[in-house]
Amino acid sequence: MPVHKPQGIRIHARSPRVTVYADADAAARALARRVAGAIEANPRVVIGLPTGRTPLAFYRELVAQHARGADFAEVTTFNVDEFVGIPASHPGSYRSFMEEHLFRHVNVRPERRHFLNGTATDVDAECRRYEEEIAAAGGIDLQILGIGTNGHIGFNEPAPALAARTHRVTLTLETRRSNAALFGGDTANVPPEALSMGMATILHARAIVLLATGKAKAACVERVVNGPLTTGLPASFLQLHDDVNIMLDAPAAAKLRGSP
Ligand code: PGA
Repeated sequence: MPVHKPQGIRIHARSPRVTVYADADAAARALARRVAGAIEANPRVVIGLPTGRTPLAFYRELVAQHARGADFAEVTTFNVDEFVGIPASHPGSYRSFMEEHLFRHVNVRPERRHFLNGTATDVDAECRRYEEEIAAAGGIDLQILGIGTNGHIGFNEPAPALAARTHRVTLTLETRRSNAALFGGDTANVPPEALSMGMATILHARAIVLLATGKAKAACVERVVNGPLTTGLPASFLQLHDDVNIMLDAPAAAKLRGSP
């Protein structure tokens, strides 16, 4: 029997469990292995997917898992959010992002890839449709998340109150700035609004993994793990869920006690 070395250092054993990896690539590899394992255990698994800079390494590793045999033919996916007013074909849309970084490289069937339509004329109906499709798929088994430096998950931005279900949101300037690269580097070109799964949509997933890398995330990660629940830091609500794993590289874990 081969001896398996620990893949990361577990520094917080109860949900939210925290695992710290040597670097961002190691964290991405571990998450891709977990997803491949979930597909092996249940080929029809329903997975919630994030966008952003952080998951790029994860998608690269997931494509590598596919090359090694992970079969996505029966997998269903739901993306967490999308910009309002941007057609799916626009290079800045999250749908384009997913095509480029994951879907063109793996065999998720087109009809099993779910996105919010940012150009829907009836936004409320579009948000309801998404909730109904998630329910019809049997709910989300594994929700993968990134986190904004302001503590947002999906596009649930810090606010006096948070929405439970899929809804239309106004993006903060901080969030628009961090998405500028998708729009020619100009924050002014980033749409001011988005559609996003709500807090309950996310928290009803059976298991959640939050991937955060880099020192810019260290302060909010520390508050997510140790701080009080507050709508000022939407990710703090992950403390309510009993199967959350926060996967970090060392810089993102730097403010946590026990961090390597
Ligand atoms: P980032 O975005 O990975 O580009 O930092 C994460 C997020 O906003 O969820």
